[in-house]
Amino acid sequence: MAYETIIVETRGKVGLVTLNRPNALNALNSTVLAEVLAAMQIFEANPRIGAMVLTGSEKAFAAGADIKEMQSKSYVDAYFEDFFVGWEQFARIRKPVIAAVAGYALGGGCELAMMCDFIIAADNAKFGQPEITLGVMPGMGGSQRLTRFVGKSKAMDMCLTGRTMDAAEAERSGLVSRVVPIGELLEEALKAAAKIAEFSLPAVMMAKEAVNRSYETTLAEGLRFERRLFHSMFALEDQKEGMAAFVEKRSANFRNQ
Ligand code: HXC
Repeated sequence: MAYETIIVETRGKVGLVTLNRPNALNALNSTVLAEVLAAMQIFEANPRIGAMVLTGSEKAFAAGADIKEMQSKSYVDAYFEDFFVGWEQFARIRKPVIAAVAGYALGGGCELAMMCDFIIAADNAKFGQPEITLGVMPGMGGSQRLTRFVGKSKAMDMCLTGRTMDAAEAERSGLVSRVVPIGELLEEALKAAAKIAEFSLPAVMMAKEAVNRSYETTLAEGLRFERRLFHSMFALEDQKEGMAAFVEKRSANFRNQ
C-alpha cells in the first residue's frame, strides 16, 4: 500500500510506523490519521506481527494536530464530523503499540503518544499541551489521559500554561516508561517490541486489556476482570508450554494458541 505521510516497515515480528511529514513537523492532519489507522489495522490483522512501534523524526514525534487544516473549521463542522473521534480507533488497537518519542510531542502529538501502551522517550523529547495558546484546549484526550498519567497538578499546569515537560520530568512524572539517548531510541523501542512479540500473543493482548481496564473501572471490578482473564489463560496451550518450559529449564516456544 502506498502512503503519503507515513513509512511502514516490518522488523521481524514488529510492525514499525514512522510519521513522515517533515515539513510540518509531523502535524496530524486527516491523511495522517487515515494512514496510521490503516497501517495499524493491517498489522493488527497480520498473525505474524506481535507488537508495533510508532515513531516520528529526531526533531518531532508530532507537533500537534494540523493547525492549518483545522483553523477555518466552524463549530458545526467540528460537531457533525465529531472532529478527532477517528483517533479513538487507534486507542482500540488490541496488540501492543509502543511510542518512540524524540523531539516535540505537542498537543495531538502528546495525546497520540499517550494513546500508545507506553512511551519510550529520547533525551531530547518535549511533551506539552499548548492548545491554550491557540485559544482552544486539548481535544484528543490530553485533559483526560495526561491527568491519569501525571496527576491533577501537573496536568493542570501543562494544560493551563501550555508549558512543555522535558524527558527527565516526563519520566519522573510517570508519563514515559524510560528515557534513552536519542541515538538509541529506535533500537530500544524495537528491542522492547521484539521481546513482547516473542511472548504468547493472547496472553500479551489480555494483559494489555487488563491494564487498560484499570482506567475504566473500580478496583473490585478490575480485580475480578483480571482474575477471570487469568483463569481463561489455563485454556491456552501457551500456558502449558510456558510453565513446562520453566520446569524443564528450557526456553518456551509460544505458538499463540
Ligand atoms: C501545522 C505545523 C504545526 C502544526 C509545526 N508546523 N507545527 N503546521 N500544524 N501543529 C509547521 C510550521 O507551520 C512550519 O511550516 C513547519 O512546521 C516548521 O515549524 P516551525 O514553527 O518553523 O519550527 P520551529 O521554529 O522549530 O518550532 C517548532 C515548534 C512550533 C515549537 C514545535 O512549530 C510550534 O509551536 N508548533 C505548534 C505546536 C502546537 O501548538 N501544537 C498543538 C496544536 S493543536 P512552514 O510552512 O511555516 O515552514 C492540537 C490539538 C488540537 O494538537 C485540539 C483542540 C482543537
